[in-house]
Amino acid sequence: MKKYALILAAGKGTRMRTELPKVAFPILKKPMISYIVENLEKSAIDEIVAIVGHKKEVVMDILGDRVTYATQEEQLGTGHAVLSAASVLDNKEGTTFILPGDMPLMEYPLMDKLLRAHEEMGNDLTVVSMMMDYPKGYGRIVRDEYGSVTGIVEENDCNESQKLIKEVNSSVYIVDNKLLFKYAKKIQKNVRKGEYYLTDIVSLMHQDHKVNTFVVRNPLITMGINDLYGVSVAEKYLRDFINKGHMLAGVSMINPETITIGHNVIIEEGVWIYPNTTITGNTVIKKGAHVGPNSEIVDSIIYEHAEIRHSIVLESEVGAYTTVGPFAHLRNHAVIGAHNRIGNFVEVKKSTTGENTKAAHLIYLGDATVGKNVNFGCGSVTVNYDGIKKHQTTIGDDVFVGCNVNLIAPIKVGDNVFIAAGSTVTEDIPNGALAIARNKQINKEDYSKNLIKPKSEKSEM
Ligand code: UD1
Ligand code: CA
Repeated sequence: MKKYALILAAGKGTRMRTELPKVAFPILKKPMISYIVENLEKSAIDEIVAIVGHKKEVVMDILGDRVTYATQEEQLGTGHAVLSAASVLDNKEGTTFILPGDMPLMEYPLMDKLLRAHEEMGNDLTVVSMMMDYPKGYGRIVRDEYGSVTGIVEENDCNESQKLIKEVNSSVYIVDNKLLFKYAKKIQKNVRKGEYYLTDIVSLMHQDHKVNTFVVRNPLITMGINDLYGVSVAEKYLRDFINKGHMLAGVSMINPETITIGHNVIIEEGVWIYPNTTITGNTVIKKGAHVGPNSEIVDSIIYEHAEIRHSIVLESEVGAYTTVGPFAHLRNHAVIGAHNRIGNFVEVKKSTTGENTKAAHLIYLGDATVGKNVNFGCGSVTVNYDGIKKHQTTIGDDVFVGCNVNLIAPIKVGDNVFIAAGSTVTEDIPNGALAIARNKQINKEDYSKNLIKPKSEKSEM
């Protein structure tokens, strides 16, 4: 039997008070809905359908062609949202796994477990529920005197005794696909809210079909994120969950509550991460590297035993045993070789360096290809921008660049070159040369003796 997933992602998320539609809002720098789709892709689901509506282009831009879309033109409630998928799923044999788009923390093993439980229990509809000490805002699971589920009542429609029910609806359902559409069509508009509630499917189905709940153990995982406080609660949960996984896999973390690691980051054994460090995107940190404190790494590869302190590394690579920082900034495909030193207040943009190259203090390298064993003196700069276009600098191996050297690009510097401090280099330099490009020093002898002193000093003499 085919298994479909149906993500309800058309809502506005009014309670978020953000420009972005709720399901596109980031949790640890990744849109909520991406978590759901990534996990569904790893689960037993065969086809994923997303119901989009409010700012659908934003959501579709995030998910691309990974899912099939159905549009809910007007947001008339979760029941109406499901019906909007009729064009894709109506009359199909199979099981449908319904998820709200504001529940990013469920991992695929739990998804598969729920699908299996639904089958093993022989249910027509499984409502995934959880126990909440403070169930405010959630639909309550209502049972009859035998304990059978008879309905779900939304907070606003609860009487006083229903308000005390602690078992709540997670908005995750596993349901026979044909029955889903048969009964979704029968849902009546809720008079108070003017919306079609998917939750009504329980009261519609329970008499003629087998309806059960599956109570998940950790209510944080199935918590719906409705506002920015909810975002912070989810981030905290996810941060702890991710960090714990890394620590158990041999990564040392100092003050882990201040460390944020994205969902897709790979960190090898023997890595150390220090406080206030954020590592996100598709980043890989190889064995024995030290990262932090106070560092930000996005979409980068940090090779074995490299060290990054108080620095920012964006879309870049740092070679093995290389040290970066404090206060360095690598960005836009800076590819730093092994055993380099990228030191204090150094910025590297779209440049590569060979092994053993050193740029220790106050240096800008942009659009440069640098060889191995190059030493940049303090304050040297690749002058890559002429006000209109960016130009390339190429530097060979074993080059010594003196302090405060400007390399006016486009320019080529050969191997074994020395460049005198303070030079502004505008011509290519051949292999083995010493380039001096600055005014010759003039010493004016006895200058101080002949100096005309200011009046006030004269009168004192
Ligand atoms: C819903 C459930 C509630 C449950 C809670 C769990 C209903 C009526 N209520 O309430 O029982 O306890 O989730 O978190 O289902 N959406 C659409 N189109 C719409 C409306 C919503 O696609 O017209 C989507 C939203 O984008 C969201 C999801 O459905 O991803 C849930 O909507 P939301 O408004 O957050 O429902 P809750 O009020 O939290
Ligand atoms: Ca919700």
